[in-house]
Amino acid sequence: MFPATRLRRLRSHPRLRDLVRETELTPNDFILPLFVRYGKNTRIPINSMPGHAQMTVDLLAAEAREIARLGIPAVILFGIPEKKDAIGSSSWDDAGVVQQAIRCLKDATPDLLVITDLCFCEFTDHGHCGVLHECGGHTDVANDATLANLVKQAVSHAQAGADMIAPSGMMDGMIQALRSGLDTAGFSHIPIMSYAAKYASGFYGPFREAAESTPKFGDRRTYQMDPANGAEALREVALDLTEGADLLMVKPALSYLDIIRRVKDAHPEVPLAAYNVSGEYAMVKAAAANGWIDEQRVAMEILTSIRRAGADMILTYHAKDACRWLADR
Ligand code: PBG
Repeated sequence: MFPATRLRRLRSHPRLRDLVRETELTPNDFILPLFVRYGKNTRIPINSMPGHAQMTVDLLAAEAREIARLGIPAVILFGIPEKKDAIGSSSWDDAGVVQQAIRCLKDATPDLLVITDLCFCEFTDHGHCGVLHECGGHTDVANDATLANLVKQAVSHAQAGADMIAPSGMMDGMIQALRSGLDTAGFSHIPIMSYAAKYASGFYGPFREAAESTPKFGDRRTYQMDPANGAEALREVALDLTEGADLLMVKPALSYLDIIRRVKDAHPEVPLAAYNVSGEYAMVKAAAANGWIDEQRVAMEILTSIRRAGADMILTYHAKDACRWLADR
């Protein structure tokens, strides 16, 4: 008797395969990113992300009802404002595009969890994630000046009705500043999902087109992580937890499945999200459009692998399709 036979016996019947399956996807695992744009009655498809579009606030209610009907528990909002300036001041405008979108969503679908991405790259005219200053002969993001503005943005999102704040700028001391800023403003019940381990990645390419947030010069390597580093992610995560992060995120997901696993093993008690980013989605879509891969099969395999690696939830552009595929099984 070969030991391999014993393992194959467990695969011999489809219902038995269902019984022994270790990782199960459900709509509850997904957070869907949405791009909200200034203006009226406009839907601009994002070429590199088929199936996704920038949408004006007036089109959001119908979209939100569909998302809720599919069983997706949460969305994360990105805003494309009409006016950009050097400090990204439209990001904390009470009449800003994200603030309007939050109100619209809470009105149309009160049960849908509204998470907001907290950053400046979509709101600054230079496309960097904060206020700039000269430092050692080059231009860089000024950490503490950016923190003060991030607090204004977070409080403004909370005032508009956001259920959770997800800061993505990777500034030092960011979580502590936001926690105390939110608490002081009366929002101690609002959780913070930290983009704790966010890598300087080529996989954000399509997103920068979608959010119109490509840096005008330089790159984000002074604040985002080097893809070569793993242990450093654990330091970032530990710091964010001490500062008060309620949920953690690793981003991107696929080239960083090992980081997801290491973070989960180090902090099994903390809810962990993984961001299946724009470039990861675009590769699947492009290959499927060419008939080179089976989109449903590959997308579900990818999502399952992210959960198996240790993520409790996945921010993914596949969310709506995945829910339909799950319902059709
Ligand atoms: C920053 C932010 C980015 C993404 C999410 N939040 C872009 C960046 O860091 O350059 C990328 C997400 C994706 O690629 O899907 N606001």
